[in-house]
Amino acid sequence: MEISEEIKEQKKYIEKIKEINQEKDRFYHILTMGCQLNENDSEKLCGMLEKMGYKKTEKQSQADIVLFNTCCVRENAEERLFGKVGELKNLKEEKGIIIAIGGCMMQEKHITDKIKQSYPFVDILFGTHTLHKFPENLYKALKEKKKQEDIIDIEGEIYEGLPIKRDSKFKASVTIMNGCNNFCSYCIVPYVRGRERSRKPKDIINEIKELAKQGYKEITLLGQNVNSYLRVEREKNIPFEEYEEVNSFATLLYAINKIDGIERIRFVSPHPKDFTDDVIQAIAKCDKVCKLVHLPLQAGNSKVLKEMNRKYTKEQYLELVEKMKKTIPNLTLSTDIIVGFPGETDEEFEDTLDVVKKVNYEQVYMFIYSRRVGTPGDKMENQIPEEIKHKRFDKLKSLVESQIAQNNKKYIGTKQKILVEGTSKNNENMLTGRTDSNKVVVFEGEKELIGTMQEVEIISEHMWYLKGETKGTVFKCLTEIVAK
Ligand code: SAH
Ligand code: SF4
Ligand code: F3S
Repeated sequence: MEISEEIKEQKKYIEKIKEINQEKDRFYHILTMGCQLNENDSEKLCGMLEKMGYKKTEKQSQADIVLFNTCCVRENAEERLFGKVGELKNLKEEKGIIIAIGGCMMQEKHITDKIKQSYPFVDILFGTHTLHKFPENLYKALKEKKKQEDIIDIEGEIYEGLPIKRDSKFKASVTIMNGCNNFCSYCIVPYVRGRERSRKPKDIINEIKELAKQGYKEITLLGQNVNSYLRVEREKNIPFEEYEEVNSFATLLYAINKIDGIERIRFVSPHPKDFTDDVIQAIAKCDKVCKLVHLPLQAGNSKVLKEMNRKYTKEQYLELVEKMKKTIPNLTLSTDIIVGFPGETDEEFEDTLDVVKKVNYEQVYMFIYSRRVGTPGDKMENQIPEEIKHKRFDKLKSLVESQIAQNNKKYIGTKQKILVEGTSKNNENMLTGRTDSNKVVVFEGEKELIGTMQEVEIISEHMWYLKGETKGTVFKCLTEIVAK
């Protein structure tokens, strides 16, 4: 079936379920694991469910549907999922709820086999390529009371026009490409998300223009390899209809930068090997593009990088960082690092620490290498003992924390532009927002400021947040003193 026909078909199922739910209070509970791409997929699942007449609940016991959107990039998620599914057995027996599990982990056969065997009460299993068919699968599970398993292994398609219910009113994620062709040897993503494919420029630009109209201020462009946007299409001569002169990642940034109402543009994750000069130039020239760039390192040693199939050396990575620092004023960097990849020696690990010292990252997401079934890394001999991995992790962590503490100090006394996102979790009277460099800032202010850009002066620093003050706050304090 044509993709647009397929979506039309699914919209019919949405209507059918809406009819079933008419005048009834129906609730869904969703748990999302994994990366921002999965969160964006969950927003689409929520969009579909709300169109069917379901309301979101944080209480599992209130739900008529419990939905898990899974991740399999590291091992710990598996135990967590099985624990969560096990907990639902009683609720299923008492209330006859529908249990659905989707996402990346469902593309792994050994996982779905285990679920079918150990948790036979699960109603719907769906994978990353069949998310859009959730309405049909749900309808069949409700009407025919039959278990649905809808998992296919294909290169992947792009689906447009699914409803979406976004978590925030000011910040929106926009997936610009799906899948990955890089096959880093530790990584499961290419096996569960299919091949690289980009959305059409027109669909992306129109979506962001619409978001701007609705009052969204910050856009995060998502993809497993964002800076190779449209690369496959160009290489294979797949027509993609240029729109507003967009034919690459750099030109996409320029086009979004022109959209009125959008104040900030972020993107994750780029791959260092595709960080071409035009992209560096675009970041420098587009005032709305945040100067925090996430540049996954993974390891600092060239031999380990080769084994990881990352396609750059330590020197090339450092040269790229130098070039970016020279070209992009106020650049800050964050990264992902894996410790304990098979064969990594203590000496080779020192190279990772060396790069961390040289680059001086604003934030480092650190991971202990986790064996993934089906990846080349899993078959490698000389896997590193857990104890050594943990020691390296702790060493890296203390280096990173000392750098963050050091970096935080330079914020004191500076004025930072922040997007105010809401009230602080710990104190209702305080507001929180983020700087261009993605630092959390907490400050006193009126709730009306939520959703606006504000200039805040940083007055103190703490490990994971900065404390700030707006001119408005100072003014308010002064008037309070006068009133007293
Ligand atoms: N496409 C992105 C992110 C992929 S997954 C990128 O290339 O940067 C997010 C992060 O998880 C990776 O950057 C990597 O640091 C980590 N990761 C992936 N596979 C892993 C594994 N098997 N063990 C530990 N960490 C892993
Ligand atoms: Fe995984 Fe590498 Fe692809 Fe990122 S680029 S998703 S780490 S294979
Ligand atoms: Fe996890 Fe899938 Fe994202 S494996 S990291 S949720 S692409």
